[in-house]
Amino acid sequence: MSDASTRSESVVQSANGSTKTPHINAETYAQMYDASVSQPDVFWGEHGQRIDWIKPFTKVKNTSFEPGNIDIRWFEDGTLNASANCIDRHLATRGDQTAIIWEPDDTSKQEPLHITYNDLHRSVSKMANVLKDLGVEKGDRVIIYLPMIPEAAYAMLACARIGAIHSIVFAGFSPDALGARVNGCGAKLVITADYAPRGGRETPLKSNTDTALLHCDDDVQCLVVKRTGGQTTWTDRDHDYNKLAEIASDDCPAVEMNAEDPLFILYTSGSTGQPKGVVHTTGGYMVYASMTHELVFDYHDGDIFWCTADVGWVTGHSYIVYGPLANGATTIMFEGVPTYPDAGRFWEVCEKHKVNQFYTAPTAIRALMGAGNEWVEKYDLSDLRVLGSVGEPINPEAWNWYNDVVGKGRCPIVDTFWQTETGGHMLTPLPGATELKPGSAQQPFFGVQPVVLEPTSGEIIEGNGVDGVLCMRDSWPGQMRTVWGDHERFEKTYFSDYKGYYFSGDGCRRDEDGDYWITGRVDDVINVSGHRMGTAEVESALVAHAKVAESAVVGYPHDVKGQGIYAYVTLMNGEEPSDELRKELEVWVRTEIGPIAKPDLIQWAPGLPKTRSGKIMRRILRKIAEDDFGSLGDTSTLADPSVVDDLIANRMNRG
Ligand code: PRX
Repeated sequence: MSDASTRSESVVQSANGSTKTPHINAETYAQMYDASVSQPDVFWGEHGQRIDWIKPFTKVKNTSFEPGNIDIRWFEDGTLNASANCIDRHLATRGDQTAIIWEPDDTSKQEPLHITYNDLHRSVSKMANVLKDLGVEKGDRVIIYLPMIPEAAYAMLACARIGAIHSIVFAGFSPDALGARVNGCGAKLVITADYAPRGGRETPLKSNTDTALLHCDDDVQCLVVKRTGGQTTWTDRDHDYNKLAEIASDDCPAVEMNAEDPLFILYTSGSTGQPKGVVHTTGGYMVYASMTHELVFDYHDGDIFWCTADVGWVTGHSYIVYGPLANGATTIMFEGVPTYPDAGRFWEVCEKHKVNQFYTAPTAIRALMGAGNEWVEKYDLSDLRVLGSVGEPINPEAWNWYNDVVGKGRCPIVDTFWQTETGGHMLTPLPGATELKPGSAQQPFFGVQPVVLEPTSGEIIEGNGVDGVLCMRDSWPGQMRTVWGDHERFEKTYFSDYKGYYFSGDGCRRDEDGDYWITGRVDDVINVSGHRMGTAEVESALVAHAKVAESAVVGYPHDVKGQGIYAYVTLMNGEEPSDELRKELEVWVRTEIGPIAKPDLIQWAPGLPKTRSGKIMRRILRKIAEDDFGSLGDTSTLADPSVVDDLIANRMNRG
């Protein structure tokens, strides 16, 4: 392990000699953290000023985790506009600075674009006027189903500009998943593109949208952005974005929004079959996204920041669009994948655009580590100063490779633990303030109060060197406010297992030094290539197939993806297992949910291990999937223990 893991940084420097004094050091971290939890009103009252308010707030924190009264409000009497904070307020000082560098999937076909803040202002205003002309009003919901193209950011900021609530659906999701989200939030409009090029392949987004909208209200309109110019069919509900934008005015005033007006809804998987619409509001989210972006990545004016996520996930919301743009940064939007046209792509982009902060997921790091060091060594990475990791635990081997080979032992790695629900980073080292430990998310960000609870009793476990479930004692400004249309579900999911706390769904360990280590989800959520998936969602997709009687899905350790999807499938009476049927089921799940949900392994299960009351014993299925069946624990409560022997004998993951 090289010295970046142990040293306490006093400067953070790139190899080309540019040295920055970090915003935070160990001492200021301790002081600020103390202030943030002992006097949250004072602390956030001050840091709330980092964004522009139309009407300044006079109240800071008004939050309750009380059972029956979960109510979270920050800066509640202030008004602002998120789009104006990301664009208009920078125009006087940095209108000609690049706001977004767009890096296309295939640079042999197209050059990267450099979009200035002035350009962004014009394009977002035009898109906002197009939306208004289509009848979109303040409070309306708009679904965005786009590739990673500048129009995705324009669409987000255009919605924010006119007070519409956007809900992005990742372009890898299927028509069914898209349709469910359109209906779930009662969207008035879907913004899509003809095709989404990615890794040299093209997803037919427009035709997916057509299929999705067959199951939606006739009034839902569709705005189509041209990406490839490939052929599509047009229906009565479609509007051609490029034509409308040409004639739209590039002047659109930003509307005044209350701090607690919703900014966006983002659907995410939970432990039940139905994804939840996570609602984030405007004021607290903007303060939190911009502050974490600046301090966690030690972002300095003039830096080039690259988060490789997709805007379809929360990481893209907070750290491609809202956080960086609120800070007047230059942010990279990357349309491609890490391995196209080859495994050097990330590093080529870092060299070309002189990236200072690079933020990606362990699954990508592991895949690139497997491709060999020569891909990294071909490129000049001397501008890199800070590296980030997000989405799943990073194993020490991948951490060390990232540190040694990519960061050359001189770029602190921030292993950021957070969730769609949290809006921004929760536990993370800070460059210049934290002595790093490979694999640990280490310390809470300002205002975050982690507690470790005993899983069964819910008692607080004090002291260090302890394991339990991770909860938060109090609210922070970026916290989600509700589940769209279902506040009861919000309370039930996050505040009912451990009363008085926000429950993350993760297990964790607090080590002897008081540093936090996330040990993974303790519910039926799995993390596949950094993408969150509910096992129940995959199960419902499988049982929707005519030949499937029953199914149970669990995660198992996967070298590259972190976790793989392992499906046990019981067929209908009379159906014969075969390799063809296995393929058919894989394709079926891809179509029902999307490629990210495709099972890696399908085991035919004549029966599933159930208790006498019919409950599937997932603990046993997880152990078998992990190839760790020597320690199955107590199986005496099973209705038919012999089922387990068959599953072990025919297990799919051996070694
Ligand atoms: O299990 C944790 C894992 O990802 C979950 C949240 O997933 P999602 O809402 O899709 O957001 C991902 C990006 C913010 C968490 O409950 N997770 C996220 N970051 C880390 C992590 N696990 C370990 N270490 C991390 N740094």
